[in-house]
Amino acid sequence: MAQVPHTAPRDEVRVHVAGYEGVLSARKAAREMAVKLGFTLADTTRVTTAVSEVARNIARFAWSGVVVLRAEHSHGTPALTVEAIDSGPGIADPSLVVEDGYGTADSLGLGLSSARRLMDEFSVVSRAGDGTTVKMRKSA
Ligand SMILES: Nc1ncnc2c1ncn2[C@@H]1O[C@H](COP(=O)(O)OP(=O)(O)OP(=O)(O)O)[C@@H](O)[C@H]1O
Ligand SMILES: [Mg+2]
Repeated sequence: MAQVPHTAPRDEVRVHVAGYEGVLSARKAAREMAVKLGFTLADTTRVTTAVSEVARNIARFAWSGVVVLRAEHSHGTPALTVEAIDSGPGIADPSLVVEDGYGTADSLGLGLSSARRLMDEFSVVSRAGDGTTVKMRKSA
């Protein structure tokens, strides 16, 4: 007999990011999912910007990785979760880079700190030499 799932079905979109075209694909997928979930225009823009920043970091620092977007419903409230995963060089001290202005010499270093402000939940798990995973979540 078929098993009845206990949780509501979740939509998942995986975007492979390898270079800047992947950044555009991740942006587009995030925008579509936010609209589908009923996010306001302002929140759709926030999510799209945050996803763009983490995807841009993958393209720039790790060259390739994946952005996983999930549409969830907890207690009737739609939410969008994001995981940006790469196997690049990693970050020696993730707690520092989420502060404003901790970029490399030729950039502003505002991407991760902005993404953190734009989303409800935000975390960076990384170690030098061990890749990086950024997790974010925003409820509608
Ligand atoms: N996926 C990643 N892999 C390795 N290092 C990363 C990654 N993402 C961020 N970093 C490191 O964290 C720093 C801060 O990232 P952040 O996105 O805030 O700034 P930036 O990319 O340098 O500049 P901006 O995003 O403002 O153009 C980067 O300069 C880089 O050293
Ligand atoms: Mg950046």
